[in-house]
Amino acid sequence: MLNQLEQLAQKALAELNAIADSKSLTGWHIQYLGKKGEITLMLRRVGELPREERPAFGKRANELKRELEAAHDRRAAEIKAQEMEKAFAENALDVTLPGRPVRRGHLHPSTQVLRRIYQIWAEMGFQVYRARDVETDEYNFQLLNIPPHHPAREMQDTFYTTTDGVLLRTHTSPGQIHAMHEYAPDPVRIILPGMCYRHEQITARSEIQFHQVEGLAIGRNIRMTDLKGTLTAFAQRLFGENKPTRFRASYFPFTEPSAEMDVQCIICGGKGCKTCKYTGWLEILGCGMVHPTVLRNGGYDPEIYTGFAFGMGPERITMLKHGIEDIRYFWGNDLRFLRQF
Ligand code: DAH
Repeated sequence: MLNQLEQLAQKALAELNAIADSKSLTGWHIQYLGKKGEITLMLRRVGELPREERPAFGKRANELKRELEAAHDRRAAEIKAQEMEKAFAENALDVTLPGRPVRRGHLHPSTQVLRRIYQIWAEMGFQVYRARDVETDEYNFQLLNIPPHHPAREMQDTFYTTTDGVLLRTHTSPGQIHAMHEYAPDPVRIILPGMCYRHEQITARSEIQFHQVEGLAIGRNIRMTDLKGTLTAFAQRLFGENKPTRFRASYFPFTEPSAEMDVQCIICGGKGCKTCKYTGWLEILGCGMVHPTVLRNGGYDPEIYTGFAFGMGPERITMLKHGIEDIRYFWGNDLRFLRQF
């Protein structure tokens, strides 16, 4: 039996040296040295030997067992080191690789156009005047020469609050009155940007919120030619030096006379296309000479003072500039749209 044990130990050692991974090593340990391992079982059979052979067998058996355990531990250490080295090699970090760029956020397309508009007007001496989003019927309509039953109210479906006479401004024009009250009788040269709200069915062409940039100039000698020259200069800075513009007569309750300004279509260059509805022109703003009643409501004597005003929609201008066909993209928070600007 001692012979058998020696042979078994030899075989175990030989197998151990051939093992190259920790999983097989665990299997080996179970096979030979586990509770039901071959070596363990053989040790238990010591009782089968004649009494006088037992001590020698037991001694040798324990020696072999310790040897095998020691060999196992050495092999285990070797394999672990090899496996670690391999793992390091596989996940090697190349510190010379360029980093992955972090995607930076950027300004919303409306903000970009607004800032460009502020810049142009600043160059022409217009300051930014901030007025409130929540307005009264008086400022949003009445002081702008739109009495309660004026048909012009039809164009602007209004969000009314639960407080009587308090509403969300439907245009930036009421800011004109606030500014006049603050500055009269001094001259004024301001733009009034801000969000406006209208109770509309949301479609590709109409939103319930959008920006406007209002403008107001008041002084002693301001004439229609000043309006035309200033707005033409603005349009050429925004759309390009040689871009043709034109004025068409129009109607707004708060200006007299009133006009709308067109630029030659930026998509087709005037030839006619879907964007300009085959007219060759794009309407970009409304304007006019401040109505005497509005001047008076603001605290200026219309016998002495005159002024011009205008209002434009930056989202509309952005849509025209980039051929965007659906206004809902602006507040839809779809990054696929926003990332294009
Ligand atoms: N408030 C007008 C609107 O919402 C835009 C406008 C037109 C403003 C003419 C003006 C103006 O100041 O003179 O449609």
